[in-house]
Amino acid sequence: MNRHQIKKAIIPAAGLGTRFLPATKAMPKEMLPIVDKPTIQYIVEEAVEAGIEDIIIVTGKGKRAIEDHFDHAFELEHLLLEKQKLEWLEMVRKSSKLANIHYIRQKEPLGLGHAIWCARKFIGEEPFAVLLGDDIVRADQPCIKQLADIFAQVNCSVVGVQEVPIDDISRYGVIDPLDREGSLYRVRTFVEKPPKEAAPSNLAIMGRYILTADIFDFLSRHEKGAGGEIQLTDAIQKLNERQTVYAYRFEGKRYDVGDKLGFITTTLEFALDNQELRAPLLHYLQQLLQAKKNVGK
Ligand code: G1P
Repeated sequence: MNRHQIKKAIIPAAGLGTRFLPATKAMPKEMLPIVDKPTIQYIVEEAVEAGIEDIIIVTGKGKRAIEDHFDHAFELEHLLLEKQKLEWLEMVRKSSKLANIHYIRQKEPLGLGHAIWCARKFIGEEPFAVLLGDDIVRADQPCIKQLADIFAQVNCSVVGVQEVPIDDISRYGVIDPLDREGSLYRVRTFVEKPPKEAAPSNLAIMGRYILTADIFDFLSRHEKGAGGEIQLTDAIQKLNERQTVYAYRFEGKRYDVGDKLGFITTTLEFALDNQELRAPLLHYLQQLLQAKKNVGK
């Protein structure tokens, strides 16, 4: 195996999903669908397209539906076969054949850094990918593949960033760039959720990382940061003090499905790109807009 090749990924999915309550009271937020696919399947597909073979999903209480989704569904498959619904059968089978998916539970919600630390034994000494489920990225090259390609060149950890409006910056991890070559930045500091006034740039961390296993040295200290949580960004900053961690401004459109408005606009855009839904949805939206305009008259 090429030692620069990334074969393992961590997908943290233990969050409580409070922003989507009450929908997430009994259903994991990662199972909320964008059109007809759970958000977490988009993330798993991105990893698979990048050549990742083993994925560990860090789950928590009430997340069993995720395991069921990526498992075989014998009764359903049998029924669909009997009824000769072969297209649906293929769809159902696809989600159970995507990759080797493993699970570990984060027993307490101590933060993203702690969730990643929970998967340390699965990772061992290899460099690995992290993909967060609140961001879906559509790009010619899967976002995590872009970062893996950079890793193969520089042999250092790489964090995916994009520009965001400065008013939104305090929702993200942010980089203070030192210098750059094209889209690749050397970084002075990584800061988690700074107040807008203190933000060193508008380049935000977008939930995609390639990290060396050295990160676990810092995560194992269990130091709390912003919001009283063990933050991945803080461990990345510590790692950056020991060995270079690059930031890479990746190509592609990033969809924020972690908040309500982002979730709705993503659903709308993905539905408008769906052959079957596009024409009737456009028709409906035109009529709706017309009706809403007339209300005020
Ligand atoms: C997490 C990270 C943050 C990153 C963000 C991207 O924050 O801690 O650095 O910018 O994801 O979506 P969260 O959204 O989990 O609070």
